[in-house]
Amino acid sequence: MAVKLSHLFLLLVMPSLSLTSGHKCSTSDSSCNQCIQSGPECAWCTAPNSNIHCHTVKGLQRAGCHKGHIYKPQSSVQVIRNDSRTDIADAKTIFLQPQDLAIHLRPGVSQSFPLSISMPNDHPTTDLTLDTSNVPAGLNITFSSITTGNPLLVQVTVEAAQCPSESDISNQNSTGPWSVQITPRGFAKSVTLEVTLQCQCSCTENREENSPTCSSHGALVCGRCVCYQPYVGNLCQIDITSFESENEDSCRLRPGAPVCSGRGVCVSGMCHCNQRENPEKIRGQFCECTNFDCPYHENRICGGNGICECGMCRCYANWTGSECSCSTETASCVAKNQQLCNGRGNCICGKCQCLPQYQGPTCEDCPVCVAH
Ligand SMILES: *[C@@H]1O[C@H](CO)[C@@H](O)[C@H](O)[C@H]1NC(C)=O
Ligand SMILES: *[C@@H]1O[C@H](CO)[C@@H](O)[C@H](O)[C@H]1NC(C)=O
Ligand SMILES: *[C@@H]1O[C@H](CO)[C@@H](O)[C@H](O)[C@H]1NC(C)=O
Ligand SMILES: *[C@@H]1O[C@H](CO)[C@@H](O)[C@H](O)[C@H]1NC(C)=O
Repeated sequence: MAVKLSHLFLLLVMPSLSLTSGHKCSTSDSSCNQCIQSGPECAWCTAPNSNIHCHTVKGLQRAGCHKGHIYKPQSSVQVIRNDSRTDIADAKTIFLQPQDLAIHLRPGVSQSFPLSISMPNDHPTTDLTLDTSNVPAGLNITFSSITTGNPLLVQVTVEAAQCPSESDISNQNSTGPWSVQITPRGFAKSVTLEVTLQCQCSCTENREENSPTCSSHGALVCGRCVCYQPYVGNLCQIDITSFESENEDSCRLRPGAPVCSGRGVCVSGMCHCNQRENPEKIRGQFCECTNFDCPYHENRICGGNGICECGMCRCYANWTGSECSCSTETASCVAKNQQLCNGRGNCICGKCQCLPQYQGPTCEDCPVCVAH
């Protein structure tokens, strides 16, 4: 008696995990797990000296990664038990074939297998529904009819939408293996699928601590250095602290002085001085020299009587003092008797500084002197 498989029951499970968003292989070069999770086409190069670790197989080969170093977990269906019915005469029970399968899934790549369902001879012609149980979130199992009659042949397709996020992966069961049962409704027989998501690289388990490849400053994982702090670089060859402090110190005029005198940035141990609008300039190994940071006199830099060089006033001829405010010219100090300040004072900066009791531009006045 033929049983018609008139409609098939689709059990669709909504993903409830937070799932990683899809992106291209080449942007996930940081770890093998991230790489293979970023798309079913993504493969990993386990050669430490490779410039690119994550790409399509073709992309990795183009980048010079040897075939033997390319790791790309595949989706697969492995039939564990596929017993045939031995007692043909016993047509009173339902019989399913195969009975046990192990399925490895790269999310985004579906896997299918044919399921043969031998119905009992006395079973009335009716609809057959296939139920699934224990299907985890994110897994989609669908059925389609290949042939009708007895036995029925049904195509079973298993697909995972995406890998769970890294935080969910740390929760052990998020990538399986899960045991899923497919059961014709109303019968006591079922097919068992053991489903595992291929979201983790097997090479991550072979972690070489203090690897010489990683300058003994990191672990070699899947051909990639995972550097210990404070080391960085492809081969953990750079100590970031020494890089920073040594080079910053070489940017100080003297210990404790501001880096690049506060007027520039320290790049690889060298000061790069800030740019100013012309004619202002900053110069010097430590940006210590400016032509605008000089004393002012009467609102003019270097009193208008000199030029500012490296923070110091260089005075024009006949001018002196830290702000070039002092004239060396003495003509204005000469008194009527041709003596500087009438012999009663000192000519300082072109002006007489008179002894006590004397006054006037050339110290000729003496209000307290007794007149003869
Ligand atoms: C199970 O074995 C039968 C032969 O007994 C074969 O036709 C069928 O394809 C096998 N099923 C699977 C899923 O490999
Ligand atoms: C499950 O697969 C079917 C057939 O490929 C598809 O139509 C459906 O959208 C999928 N459902 C989910 C939740 O991915
Ligand atoms: C993981 O699966 C095992 C059996 O496969 C189960 O006993 C355990 O409770 C599961 N753990 C979580 C966190 O789901
Ligand atoms: C500086 O003083 C000398 C002598 O008094 C004079 O000859 C010369 O012209 C002055 N120079 C300037 C630049 O004023």
